[in-house]
Amino acid sequence: MNLIFLGAPGAGKGTAANRLSELLDIPHISTGDIFRANISEGTELGKLADQYISQGCLVPDDVTIGMVKARLAEEDCAKGFILDGFPRTIPQAEALDNILAEDGRKIDRAVDIVVSEDKLVERLAYRRVCAACKLSYNLKHSNIGDCCPVCGGSLIMREDDKPKVIAARMAAYHRDTEPLIEYYRNARKLVKVNSEEVVADTFANILAALEIKGV
Ligand code: AP5
Repeated sequence: MNLIFLGAPGAGKGTAANRLSELLDIPHISTGDIFRANISEGTELGKLADQYISQGCLVPDDVTIGMVKARLAEEDCAKGFILDGFPRTIPQAEALDNILAEDGRKIDRAVDIVVSEDKLVERLAYRRVCAACKLSYNLKHSNIGDCCPVCGGSLIMREDDKPKVIAARMAAYHRDTEPLIEYYRNARKLVKVNSEEVVADTFANILAALEIKGV
């Protein structure tokens, strides 16, 4: 299954994509995670991406499209994939269709994860990420202190989860990414999923929307 997870910052794309990737045994490709890994490693791509991410702006399309094209050409994507955070603009969506068409593939479903704006901002404020294994936690729903319960790494706040950057990310979402909902609705690939409640409920809603059984 070739899937896209759409949704505003903090909607829960990464959390749900991680779980579904394990269940379906297909790769979870998060452009945000790839950029952050490059920033941590100090690569040229990371240095470039950081200039945009730290301001809450989108990384230019040509950079992002080239990076995703290379990732989708890797062997593990042949059996399916979940794209999280890509596409984020109409030119990215059109480029993705062309990249997949080159070898006879297509997107099966675009899952729009829907949450009220108040809750999005709350989730970003309460999110902490493990500096070592990168797992993400919502401090509001878990009493875990400063260390990752899985690997013991330090839990940190993402730089772009600070209030002044969140406002810019939300503006970029409404301006550049929201039009994709119509794009995938017109292509008859859109499914909408409510994510107002806890993680388990969101995941159950996604499975139901995609008609995936067996959990
Ligand atoms: P990216 O990392 O993709 O950030 P984002 O889209 O803003 O999404 P987030 O990672 O903030 O949130 P999420 O929806 O994955 O939520 P999560 O599951 O963590 O991108 C970062 C930046 O990179 C962008 O701003 C841009 O600059 C750049 N970039 C990336 N892709 C790009 C592209 N294609 N083009 C150009 N630039 C690009 O959940 C959030 C929190 O809520 C967590 O704490 C989680 O534990 C919790 N949570 C999740 N679900 C629930 C639930 N149901 N109930 C309660 N808590 C929940």
